[in-house]
Amino acid sequence: MQYLPIFTKLDNKPVLVVGGGEVALRKCRAFLKARAQVTLVAPEFCQQLTELAEQGEVSLVHDYFNEQHLNGMMLVIAATDLDSVNSQVFELANQRNIFVNVVDDQPRCTFIFPSIVDRDPITIAISSAGTAPVLARRLREKLETLIPQHIGPLATLVGSFRNKVKQRFSHFADRRQFWETVFDSSVVSKVQTGNTDAANEQLELLLNAKPEPEGEVYVVGAGPGDPELLTLKALQLMQQADVVVYDFLVSDEIMELVRRDAELICVGKRLGDHSVVQDDTNQMLVDLAKQGKKVCRIKGGDPFIYGRGGEEVQVLAANKVNYQIVPGITAAAGCSAYAGIPLTHRDHAQAIQFVTGHCKQDGQELDWPSLAKPNQTLAIYMGVIKSPHIQAQLLKYGRGAETPVAIIENGTRKNQRVVTGQLGELADLVSRHSIISPALLIIGEVASLHQQLAWFGDKIQTSSFAQPITDVA
Ligand SMILES: C[S@@+](CC[C@H](N)C(=O)[O-])C[C@H]1O[C@@H](n2cnc3c(N)ncnc32)[C@H](O)[C@@H]1O
Repeated sequence: MQYLPIFTKLDNKPVLVVGGGEVALRKCRAFLKARAQVTLVAPEFCQQLTELAEQGEVSLVHDYFNEQHLNGMMLVIAATDLDSVNSQVFELANQRNIFVNVVDDQPRCTFIFPSIVDRDPITIAISSAGTAPVLARRLREKLETLIPQHIGPLATLVGSFRNKVKQRFSHFADRRQFWETVFDSSVVSKVQTGNTDAANEQLELLLNAKPEPEGEVYVVGAGPGDPELLTLKALQLMQQADVVVYDFLVSDEIMELVRRDAELICVGKRLGDHSVVQDDTNQMLVDLAKQGKKVCRIKGGDPFIYGRGGEEVQVLAANKVNYQIVPGITAAAGCSAYAGIPLTHRDHAQAIQFVTGHCKQDGQELDWPSLAKPNQTLAIYMGVIKSPHIQAQLLKYGRGAETPVAIIENGTRKNQRVVTGQLGELADLVSRHSIISPALLIIGEVASLHQQLAWFGDKIQTSSFAQPITDVA
């Protein structure tokens, strides 16, 4: 290991920055964050440094650097554009065993600044020992997306309980067990949702009672299939769940991202084959949570748009199970974007209706006169089988047979297929192109924009992931 990662408390400690320009300013700001006592030495200083000095934040010494400036310093940074000065700072500081950093000159650094993921008070430092700073920055970006923002407030909250916990549990093993229970409890999700008072109360309860494991359910929307369309929150919860309860609609690529050792339960529904009936799924979620498990109930698209998320959450609420709801990109939004079809457009459609082709009770009819109105787009979910009926009803109530339509099969996925044509041939398109589920119907003038806006070769690339095949009728 070339550098030992240590976190140094610089509160009120004297540090020196040699230089008066932009680089010196940047380094100076890093020191100020740690509340160090910063002195800068240079013949002249940039405006911002002068202002910081006027505000009493730093001390400026208008002088050329000399050895005396190092007196009493813990750390020194050389940030001038003169190699001779930087070299002199390095040599003199080194002779006195003062930690020194010459900016952008790794061999002349006895300490370096790592890339930082800042979730104060949690700080993660990454260093490549000066060999590959861009790689270190990329790693930092990855961690930034993986480490949720609430980790900082969570650490602050538990920090405020440390003394109480020490008094309550005299043995280290008991304290560790207590903290494990806390981090598996809904204290975490309460902080995550900004409910710090409730988290505080919950922690008090856990401290004063013999804690039982406490489960919860995350009702998560996984989007239409492209894993890059998952939200950060969805990803984080998928990776912290003990059990993942999923539908067929959730793509394999997305299932690859769940916690490796999580138990997987498929409750998929396909038309006419309800492998697990909805009531059983609802009860399963309640039972798993009551066993103290963290359950990720993951659904295609958005859980509250034709996802039965509402029904499941009603049962969780009635059974007093803790839950969180994470929205996802619904099929209409994902499929239309990846097919180059804007759902509204000032020239073509001022409204958009989300419609299901599959009603709860057979014979229950949609409001066809309203759906057949012009200047609007219909995004029809689960409409493939009912396409002859949809076509007939829309024509009957006045939509023109030449109205453009698009059928998007496996939208946003590697095997996305887009078929376009006219309303008068909708059912024929479905059967001629052997459309399979999942597929979304888009009806309205905007569908004609697919030809212009979809990605063909070097035109608009809606995703690095989907490579649309387009069948035009
Ligand atoms: C039970 S609904 C679920 C909708 C989901 N909750 C959402 O917000 O997208 C299933 C229907 O959504 C549509 N759908 C979902 N994902 C799709 C995809 N990747 N491509 C095309 N249609 C999709 C299809 O119409 C499918 O029959």
